[in-house]
Amino acid sequence: MKAIKLAMVFAPVVVAVGCASFPDADETRSSAEQMVKEAFPGMPETLTRRAMQDPAQRTCSIVGDAKLSPEQAAQVVQTSQASFKYPASGKLAGDWKAGAKLAADGAGLRIRGGQVEKMKENGGLCVNCHALDPQDVNVGNVGPSLTGYGAQRGSSDAVVKYTYEKIYNAWAYFPCSNMPRLGHNGFLTPEQITHVVAYLVDPQSPVNKK
Ligand code: HEC
Repeated sequence: MKAIKLAMVFAPVVVAVGCASFPDADETRSSAEQMVKEAFPGMPETLTRRAMQDPAQRTCSIVGDAKLSPEQAAQVVQTSQASFKYPASGKLAGDWKAGAKLAADGAGLRIRGGQVEKMKENGGLCVNCHALDPQDVNVGNVGPSLTGYGAQRGSSDAVVKYTYEKIYNAWAYFPCSNMPRLGHNGFLTPEQITHVVAYLVDPQSPVNKK
């Protein structure tokens, strides 16, 4: 009886100490996110939003290099598909020349001296990770070569739609891959993505010339 009473007296203390020294994972995450957000005051929403993990990113971070379970993969694919937004025109392949510039351009959303660099538009910097124009000497190899993309696959509606969605949110087709989610994260607008699509699929694009 005595022991039970004592346990009752001390139990709340033990619980309180436990909470103070080990905040749970959600608490730790939200205070870390808050600190990152407060470290960059006055930033555009596209940047502050990046400090908060969305559900797909959270799953990918938990898994790390381990294998995704089928349920986790399905969750990432589903939330990624739900993120798709299409251009008002409904036309998913735009102007390949504008796309060529965007594919080589890494400008935008950079912070210098505590300020977001003022840019007219962001680039996609595809060349950092992909080979595209066979004339380019200096290309990245983090992602597969996309040289001859349209020459090999054609430019059917299905190819154009896949390419648009892949660039908008790569994880809809390959959960947790290293390809940035360019449309979903607001780096490229739907309109800009249509130009990059054209750069990949248009028969006139250097990507599809020998
Ligand atoms: C940080 C590196 C990185 C950047 C930047 C990047 N990608 Fe990727 N990309 C990858 C990786 C890695 C893959 C393979 C995994 C996957 O499919 O998500 C990939 C896959 C792809 C695929 C699918 C290839 C296939 O065979 O179907 C396409 C299309 C693509 N990228 C286009 C682009 C375009 C266009 C851009 C620029 C707007 C771009 N990527 C920017 C890393 C990158």
